[in-house]
Amino acid sequence: MAEITDRRTPVRSDTTLLPGLKPLVLQALSAPECAAGTASIDRLRLAPVPLVPEVRLVMAEDAIVLWARLEAEAGHVLPPPFWASAWTGGQALARYILDHPDTVAGCHVLDVASGSGLVAIAAAIAGAAGVTANDIDPYSIAAINANAHANGVELTLSSRDLLDGDVDGMDVVLAGDALYHPSVAARMLPFLARVVAKGARVLVGDPDRGHVPHDWLERVATYEMPISGAPEDAQLHLTSVLKPRRDKVDDRRGPATPLRRESHHCRTRE
Ligand SMILES: C[S@@+](CC[C@H](N)C(=O)[O-])C[C@H]1O[C@@H](n2cnc3c(N)ncnc32)[C@H](O)[C@@H]1O
Repeated sequence: MAEITDRRTPVRSDTTLLPGLKPLVLQALSAPECAAGTASIDRLRLAPVPLVPEVRLVMAEDAIVLWARLEAEAGHVLPPPFWASAWTGGQALARYILDHPDTVAGCHVLDVASGSGLVAIAAAIAGAAGVTANDIDPYSIAAINANAHANGVELTLSSRDLLDGDVDGMDVVLAGDALYHPSVAARMLPFLARVVAKGARVLVGDPDRGHVPHDWLERVATYEMPISGAPEDAQLHLTSVLKPRRDKVDDRRGPATPLRRESHHCRTRE
């Protein structure tokens, strides 16, 4: 079992043990400045995010090649390294948060399906009172740790699968490109509906991958991608931020859940 031991990084974590991380990748993630430039470690490099150049992330030159190398090194099947790309939906959400800091300022924020931590980092830069970055992939937790350090922000890390439960104590829940697969969307949408029912604000970033219920979520902003985000997204030129429609009570929250007003204006929260 490998453990993140980078004492410089101002990150709290509820995930001290990271199973099976390979030393080369850990080294690159724990010292991303060493991965800058052409002499990258395992072809990871620290680079500005196209739509969000204020944020730099450790990204793969080619995520598919990185995936193959990780699997070859591990000797078994691994989930794709989603953490090694700035996904188009996450870029939209991070851009929106930085351009509208009041969305999160003074709030307790959860970034669910955080990947690289891009959206969580944007929320921290925008002045959130506290940000938890959640992802079930242990490599993602290591990447968020590295990226938080590279951008000088403090995050709380969480690797628990939260989607079948409720989240308490959060004012804002952010989901960047978290509706990327039908099976994930099938769990993510009821989770977000329960969050809304509890009175928290929900914002979703999505480049129209086909799993957004437009009867429930409406667009609040659309951005043109300067260049593609993840290589898999080369055909996606537009990416949007969505929020739940005010006039709709979503039946995914379940019949017994009372609907509360959004608990907002976090800047002035006691
Ligand atoms: C397409 S990536 C998006 C990452 C990031 N939000 C962005 O926009 O760049 C989706 C992420 O969802 C994570 N994920 C999948 N199922 C999850 C779950 N049940 N709970 C938390 N994260 C999950 C994956 O590990 C992956 O990092």
